[in-house]
Amino acid sequence: MKAFIVNRYGKKEKLHPQEIAEPVVKVNDVLVQVYAAGVNLLDSKIKNGEFKLILPYKMPLVLGHDVAGVITKIGASVTRFKVGDEVYARPADHRIGTFAELIAINEADVALKPKKLTMEEAASIPLVALTVWQALVEKADLKKGQKVFIQAGSGGVGTIAIQLAKHIGATVATTTSTANLEWVKALGADVVIDYKKDDFETILRDYDVVLNSQDAKTLEKSLRVLKPGGKLISISGPPDPSFAKEIGLGWPLKIIMGLLSFGTRRKAKRKGVDYSFLFMRAEGSQLSKITALIDSGIISPVVDKVFPFGKTEEALTYVESGRAKGKVVIKVK
Ligand SMILES: NC(=O)c1ccc[n+]([C@@H]2O[C@H](COP(=O)([O-])OP(=O)(O)OC[C@H]3O[C@@H](n4cnc5c(N)ncnc54)[C@H](OP(=O)(O)O)[C@@H]3O)[C@@H](O)[C@H]2O)c1
Repeated sequence: MKAFIVNRYGKKEKLHPQEIAEPVVKVNDVLVQVYAAGVNLLDSKIKNGEFKLILPYKMPLVLGHDVAGVITKIGASVTRFKVGDEVYARPADHRIGTFAELIAINEADVALKPKKLTMEEAASIPLVALTVWQALVEKADLKKGQKVFIQAGSGGVGTIAIQLAKHIGATVATTTSTANLEWVKALGADVVIDYKKDDFETILRDYDVVLNSQDAKTLEKSLRVLKPGGKLISISGPPDPSFAKEIGLGWPLKIIMGLLSFGTRRKAKRKGVDYSFLFMRAEGSQLSKITALIDSGIISPVVDKVFPFGKTEEALTYVESGRAKGKVVIKVK
């Protein structure tokens, strides 16, 4: 089968199209013919080696964390799916590789594709929607009437986070640049701040939850818009010791993560705010809940560009530009 592979870690390393062996289908796996693959900054960060310590991959590696497609084969112990099912997934870490014609995925990480979506739209959903679910529902326990600040409302995560937070019944503030103000408002955000002109720190007060996806300076400012008892959840670092524990890292890495997040945790504690880092995980049962929200019209995908399979490298470069409005997808079949 054809796949896009990287041969080594490195910022300058390119994706190479190559014929490789078809994946081995384990007893709990479904084999998915990839119709479309979503592109994430995580693909780029893994290629660059930024996750080498906590998520080491053997090279050569097929990148790609999001897929929509059709099941062509099932393992002997699969119970939830059959050949011919249209599905989507964020395969688990160490089993990624959706920039390919086929991928084998544990059935626990798969869900039926929302009926009303095209394959390209469906492939745009899993990683960002699971991130948002795990941040706002699992970690923040966001409630009706609470106030949440979601940074970068025009990004892959932001567009879905705004919609889920509004569905929960929260008041939503977000940031974006001038050109995106109106359509981000149309997604449902109550307060839209133009980060090119205004400083959110001077506008927002007494928030219950912040979903941080930007740099360290933004993280620090975010602490100041929260009320005591509020929750700061960061998906862009720094990782904390609880995260190291959750994913079963050894003492040296726990200590490193303790040091990396020490300043943030200390400042948060002084403000009476809870800081936590989230690295999303694959989970088919949560994705099924997201399917239901999409099928009932509560969440809609936001796809910026669809690239042909042959232009996978260009798709990744576009995502790396940081200017995507919603998601970038590769049409494989
Ligand atoms: N830890 C996890 O599990 C996890 C999961 C998903 C994502 N992430 C991380 O979260 C971050 C966001 O991911 P994403 O997929 O949403 O990224 P993305 O889609 O590539 O974000 C692009 C968007 O960010 C906006 N943006 C750029 N700089 C901004 C700023 N200073 N303030 C507000 N908006 C800004 C851009 O809007 P303008 O063009 O208007 O500037 C653009 O629409 C990435 O670092 C990603 O790796 C982590």
